This record gives sequence, structure tokens and C-alpha cells, in this order.
Amino acid sequence: MENLEKDIDEVLITEKQLKEKTAEMGKEITKDYEGKNLMLIGVLKGAVTFMADLSRCIDLPLSIDYMAVSSYGSSTRSSGIVKIIKDLDISIEGKDVLIVEDIIDSGLTLAYLRKTLLGRKPNSLRICTILDKPERRETDVKVDYTGFKIPDKFVVGYGLDYDEKYRNLPFIGVLKPELYS
Ligand code: IMP
Ligand code: MG
Repeated sequence: MENLEKDIDEVLITEKQLKEKTAEMGKEITKDYEGKNLMLIGVLKGAVTFMADLSRCIDLPLSIDYMAVSSYGSSTRSSGIVKIIKDLDISIEGKDVLIVEDIIDSGLTLAYLRKTLLGRKPNSLRICTILDKPERRETDVKVDYTGFKIPDKFVVGYGLDYDEKYRNLPFIGVLKPELYS
């Protein structure tokens, strides 16, 4: 990954750490959802990588669907105005829904999603994220499963992008600030 790594200041979370944490989270979810009707909902496109890994660490029957939302604002900050670009294909009524996210930053995207999905009568609704930037929170949103808490830095890799690039980096890295400021 030499060509991409030259744009990275610092590796924050290694591939190995991601793998171990995902396995740990999968185990916990397996325990918590035994006998339930689990449905994983991934938020496109950032959560795709984590979803692929996490779902393979959950030893239960489950369904998977994706939603795409857009939040208006600059590319490195969310505005809180969220629009559904692609809705779910499967009904969530009566399901035990787990939203799978790449990162929770302001929390505005999730607060909106949570409210919208709760209106569709799932049996339960929880939130799972691989990354959390608690310092940036603008709204109170309860996160049930968190992989890593990270400092307020713009990160890429493991699904996370800057300008649609770097999603294929296998680790989480801090992008060189001169590339976006
Ligand atoms: P929130 O509504 O501010 O919580 O926005 C969350 C969304 O913003 C995530 O799903 C990401 O797509 C994006 N985001 C927030 N922080 C970062 C980051 O450090 N790198 C890449 N994308 C980010
Ligand atoms: Mg994004």
C-alpha cells in the first residue's frame, strides 16, 4: 500500500487491532442476540468494510441490508441535515436491528437514522460502530457497541474516505492535513 501510505501522517489503528476488535465485538453480539431476529443495517459506503468483517464474526442467522444517507455540509463536517438516498429493501418490523456504522462524529447522522428507523416498529434497535470521536459529539446518541474511541482527527481507511478515496486502506490512518486544508 505504498502509494496510499505516503498520504498518511500516522497509523492510528493497525490491521491486526481491527481484526481482533471485530472478532471481540462479533462474539459479544452473538451472545446478546441469541434467539433473536437479528438484522444488520449498514450505512453506505463507509460501513461496508466493517460490515463484511463483523458479520463473519457473528455466529447466528441474520439478515443484512444497507442504507445510503447524505449529510449536507463540507466534506469533513456533518451539517445535521440528513437525506435518505437509498432506503432499505427489507422491512424491519419486528426485527432486532443493529445499525452498523464506520464512525460516529457529531452523532447527527445516527440521531436522525435512529429516529427514522424507530418509526418503523423494529422489536429493538441498537447501534454498533468501529470508531467513535466522542469529543465531537453535538447530540446525545447512545452507542451500544464501540470498537475504538479516537481523538478529534480526520481519519481514512477501513471503509472511511476522503473525497471517495482511501477506503481500501487496510488500517485506520490520519490523513496528512495539507491534503484537505
Ligand atoms: P456525523 O453525523 O457527524 O456523526 O457523521 C458521521 C459520518 O461522517 C460518518 O459516517 C463518516 O461518513 C463521516 N466522517 C466523520 N468523521 C470522519 C473521519 O474522520 N473520516 C472520514 N469520514 C468521517
Ligand atoms: Mg463518508
